[in-house]
Amino acid sequence: MSLLEELKTIIEHEQQLAGPVVPLPHPRKEDGRRMSASDRKPSEMARSPSSPASRVAPSGKAGDLFGNRPISGSGVGSSRSPYARIHALIPAESPLHEMNTLEEVEAFVRDNVLIPLDKTRKNPVFGTGNPDADLMVIGEAPGADEDAQGEPFVGRAGMLLNKILAAIRFAREEVYIANILKSRPPNNRNPLAEEVNAHAPILYKQIALIQPKILLCVGRTSATTLLDRQDSLGAMRQTFHDFHGLPLLVTYHPAALLRNPGWKRPAWEDVQMLRERYDRLTGNTA
Ligand code: URA
Repeated sequence: MSLLEELKTIIEHEQQLAGPVVPLPHPRKEDGRRMSASDRKPSEMARSPSSPASRVAPSGKAGDLFGNRPISGSGVGSSRSPYARIHALIPAESPLHEMNTLEEVEAFVRDNVLIPLDKTRKNPVFGTGNPDADLMVIGEAPGADEDAQGEPFVGRAGMLLNKILAAIRFAREEVYIANILKSRPPNNRNPLAEEVNAHAPILYKQIALIQPKILLCVGRTSATTLLDRQDSLGAMRQTFHDFHGLPLLVTYHPAALLRNPGWKRPAWEDVQMLRERYDRLTGNTA
């Protein structure tokens, strides 16, 4: 049996064990159609004076987006939607608050210098994919190929990401892919804290507009940024985290898998979990 067939069998088995599915309703327009990112009103998004993720209490709503899993937390802010809570991570003074569409945010990223990397880049790398995606994949920062093309994950790591997504039945165009940094760090060095602080609010805005039901962080940088904790990747994978009410799974960065093929097997285990939870959240029975 090939690895893929083996994984398929495991997924089917897990789906049989999973029990009843309670799909999360996506916001609907008055005529019943699903809202697109550009339909959402700024009033549906919160503004908060505090920006660091650490100052926002986790949700205490049992079962919220997690299917059968209870979410631990104080309950502070749990009456707001995950998207309002994530939007509230954007600093109060940020012009992002005035923007209502992905196009506006993309133009803001293109036309402004927030950090020195925004001057040295060839192209901003905003994000790509379905603006109504239920799954968002979040990487670290553009590399040379992405900088040249203005699109995330188009180099070797991107090709592997596409294969990983395809193996769990996602087309690249079906999901939304973005990075923490929108500009390439020189020689692909790790992002600096001040770079992350300046660009992460753009990602929060993207999440608030796209309204995905589940997040996949590939690599340690995106996971530690969103979860606001300094753990190893190994300590963060294989469990769903609560990102302000949204389930978030962490797995290896595809570039790390290219360097260490031994991590491919655990990465498959992670993305299987992702697919299973995605199907439960979206009511997908296919
Ligand atoms: N690595 C990332 O984290 N993002 C990209 O877009 C490309 C490589």
